[in-house]
Amino acid sequence: MSDHIDNMLHESRVIAPSPEFAAQARVTREQYDEMYRRSLDDPEGFWAGVAGELAWMKPWERVLDWQEPHAQWFVGGETNIAYNALDRNVERGLGDKTAIIWEGEDGEVRTYTYSELLREVSRAANALTALGVVKGDRVTLYLPLIPEAAIAMLACARIGAVHSVVFGGFSVSALADRLGNAQSKVLITADAGQRRGGLVNLKANADEAAALAPSLERMLVVDRAHTHPPMREGRDLWWHEALAAASDEHEAAPLDSEHPLFLLYTSGSTGQPKGVQHTTGGYMVGTYLTTQTVFDLRDDDIYWCTADVGWVTGHSYSVYGPLLNGATVLMYEGAPNHPDWGRFWDLIQRHRVTILYTAPTAIRSFMRQGDDLPARHDLSSLRLLGSVGEPINPEAWMWYYRVIGGERCPVVDTWWQTETGSIMLTTLPGAHSSKPGSAGLPMFGVDPTIMTREGEELGPDDGGLLVIKRPWPAMLRTVYGDDERYKKTYWGEIPHVYFAGDGARRDADGYFTVVGRVDDVLNVSGHRLGTMEIESALVAHPSIAEAAVVGRPDEVKGECVVAFVLPQSGAEVDPQELRTHVSKEIGALARPDAIIVADALPKTRSGKIMRRFLRQIAAGKEIQGDTSTLEDPAVLERLAATEAV
Ligand code: WT7
Repeated sequence: MSDHIDNMLHESRVIAPSPEFAAQARVTREQYDEMYRRSLDDPEGFWAGVAGELAWMKPWERVLDWQEPHAQWFVGGETNIAYNALDRNVERGLGDKTAIIWEGEDGEVRTYTYSELLREVSRAANALTALGVVKGDRVTLYLPLIPEAAIAMLACARIGAVHSVVFGGFSVSALADRLGNAQSKVLITADAGQRRGGLVNLKANADEAAALAPSLERMLVVDRAHTHPPMREGRDLWWHEALAAASDEHEAAPLDSEHPLFLLYTSGSTGQPKGVQHTTGGYMVGTYLTTQTVFDLRDDDIYWCTADVGWVTGHSYSVYGPLLNGATVLMYEGAPNHPDWGRFWDLIQRHRVTILYTAPTAIRSFMRQGDDLPARHDLSSLRLLGSVGEPINPEAWMWYYRVIGGERCPVVDTWWQTETGSIMLTTLPGAHSSKPGSAGLPMFGVDPTIMTREGEELGPDDGGLLVIKRPWPAMLRTVYGDDERYKKTYWGEIPHVYFAGDGARRDADGYFTVVGRVDDVLNVSGHRLGTMEIESALVAHPSIAEAAVVGRPDEVKGECVVAFVLPQSGAEVDPQELRTHVSKEIGALARPDAIIVADALPKTRSGKIMRRFLRQIAAGKEIQGDTSTLEDPAVLERLAATEAV
């Protein structure tokens, strides 16, 4: 276990919300207790109450149909999440309220009121329809963090097209794989995005990926950076031209509650990322309620979730959840350190941000820059802080609380996953004390526990596997095109419970501390990467015969990538070239931090690589555990003595 985790296990600070915060909180301690109890005792009644706050074109007949492991929520009901995020807010008088404040890395600012956003999304929905996109079609998005990303997502949702957002930092092959798996006919991209003062040429990647994706018919291109990319006649169309030709009125399609809303690809323990499929009604209700209660949202908040829309956090808490609640959302396109590490504090000061939701890796990077940069900015508008994506070590938690929050803002540490769709474990900011390093208590309707692999429930303070014992509205419905994988991965590991893939423990107060993945999945800077994906990228290089990838604890990234590689006989390994190769195959996130060129890997007699030992070697630790099952235990000493390149 990493030092961070060791620290977490010994952490005993408890930090209560200030009396002022608690006094005006949306949910008090008593209300949480009462609501949580009701959400488990009468889930159908509880969720019907929440869903009833939103607009439905046809009422549901049943709240939940659970045929393990398949759930349907609000069965028979029809709704539209974009209608609820836009039209409904305009109808209740929020038309002139700012929905999105966007700032580009170069400082350009654009804002959209709810009425303006509704008109843009309507145009985009009409433009997609004019391109031949119909309900159920998959539309892939490969965009920088610009308003058009949210507009395109909402436009798809309006017509019942299923969006699949691919993070703009992903490579050509990652994009091509996702286009192919989803069989997308349309790709929405931009000429380029701004990043650290430079440009990321998305269109060039999109062109290369398109050549590998036969299903693709049309490409809509946002002119973000005016780089004049080549446009292919008959296939490519400018976004602004398509929208200009479209009407700004559009009636949102009534969609079955279980109609798929989006696919989002995420790494698992096999080489192939899975298309996590979410549907309309349950996801809408889950993100609506969690955004409102976890972030204690009020009318005048300026809410900033720093996640890119390429990740689930960007879907649920930059776009859908806050807009469903009629909130004002800040979006920032660029890097946190451009032009310097004060950029976030500058954004908060200028836009008077009240709620900040970011990742531990960002917090640790800021912490390394010292306290003066934040101290030079006015952060007094902040009233609530959130953390997501990976375990937060208590030191980083305390720094965030003290230096950014001025010991005034509660910090919520939210545990959830691409698959869960909405926040599962957290404290509610005015209701509960925080324990730095521990996510906290279950959200409404979430029934978690800690189990052994054999399915035996463990008591307080015993470390084990985090599982969820019943379905919740925003949970994934399947893995796109591979329901067997869905059943096996999530409901087949331990019978009758959802297996999250995380190790955790619960203390006597019921607080859950999630320590990290128990499968072959790494968490680098809050992003999931499968070791197998990186290994297959490595062996795809002509100089590499075999590869094994493990994670190593990292001060800033949480975990970083360490690759043990076996060269092809006679081949020279060029570490820089290998890193570039992995970036090209997957994306820069997957670049190995250390490469160890080996003459053999530690394998059992049956040929299984013992990653456990490789993790110890990568971390520079003594070898611990039984090495007698290894074919050749001497391999370990040789590896430990090899300098990484
Ligand atoms: C994995 C899910 C949830 C949106 C961003 C990541 C880890 C996430 C926490 C937290 C400890 C966390 C888990 C989880 N994780 N939040 N607050 N404390 N670990 O979504 O890419 O699907 O990754 O991130 O390991 O399984 P994701």
